[in-house]
Amino acid sequence: MPAFSERLKTRVPTWRRFFERAREDRRTIAYDLLPVFGLAERDRLSETFAAFQPRTAGFQPSDKARGFYDALRHQGVTAMQGPLPADVLGDLVAYFRQTLCHDPYRPHLGRFAWDAPPSPEVNLGYFTSEEVIHAPHLLELANHPDILAAAELWFGCKPTIDNIGASWSYPGRETAKGAQRFHRDFDCSRSFKLFIYLTDVDQDAGPHVYVRGSSRTARLESARAQTDEAIHETFGKDAVMTLEAPAGSWFLEDVYGFHKGLLPKTKPRLLVGIEYNLYPSPLAPKRPVLDRDERFDPYINRVFMR
Ligand SMILES: [Fe+2]
Repeated sequence: MPAFSERLKTRVPTWRRFFERAREDRRTIAYDLLPVFGLAERDRLSETFAAFQPRTAGFQPSDKARGFYDALRHQGVTAMQGPLPADVLGDLVAYFRQTLCHDPYRPHLGRFAWDAPPSPEVNLGYFTSEEVIHAPHLLELANHPDILAAAELWFGCKPTIDNIGASWSYPGRETAKGAQRFHRDFDCSRSFKLFIYLTDVDQDAGPHVYVRGSSRTARLESARAQTDEAIHETFGKDAVMTLEAPAGSWFLEDVYGFHKGLLPKTKPRLLVGIEYNLYPSPLAPKRPVLDRDERFDPYINRVFMR
């Protein structure tokens, strides 16, 4: 393993920059230091931290929640769930069709309609977390009791709904970019994501790909994206799962494990991702954007809800 200072540089070039970032946003402290620790150390830190966080009184996870937890622990990913009721799916798709998207890597292109990306360079049309959190049914889905219970088993305390995103992936692009290449998400010492397909996802529509079991080892741990060859060599071709499913299907995934979205061939794909973390990361808004809603746990929803 590289030296401490080398590993720190994964996120910040100098200590000076580290302290500058910490002053601006305290959430960057844990985020920037994450690569400094190995997998076993991160696990120990997570358990120690969780011991001091709130838990659900009289916690009794359902069999479904226990099944999700077991799948996350052993495979890194659950079986496909759903699909969502047709009216819920319809409302979500309509919302994301009428909300303009953007490409944060090409800000000069401005905002554009979901079906009119302004350049062939744009592989993905993104929505901000604020836009996503205002989508219909989103909070109910994020606060699904079985998911929250699985999360409490996973973290050893209540989870924090943190980094939320949605994006269209466009067909006809030749080069995979960003999350279209194998990578580990490395946002918190322990986390998982809820992914919801809002369009039918088959071989031609850029299915999500996951490397089963890669969440349980630090092999190839690096900030760099990995090639298919490196993944096959390290984990074996059989570990690579391609997740095809109809619109409205959803699954949970330990995103420390290697994953990517394949480049769609002929059809655009719309995906929502909701990250459950042990503590807030700098990837979510700095201040809550929603008023308190008594239906939802204030601790779990504190990043987005006052
Ligand atoms: Fe990712």
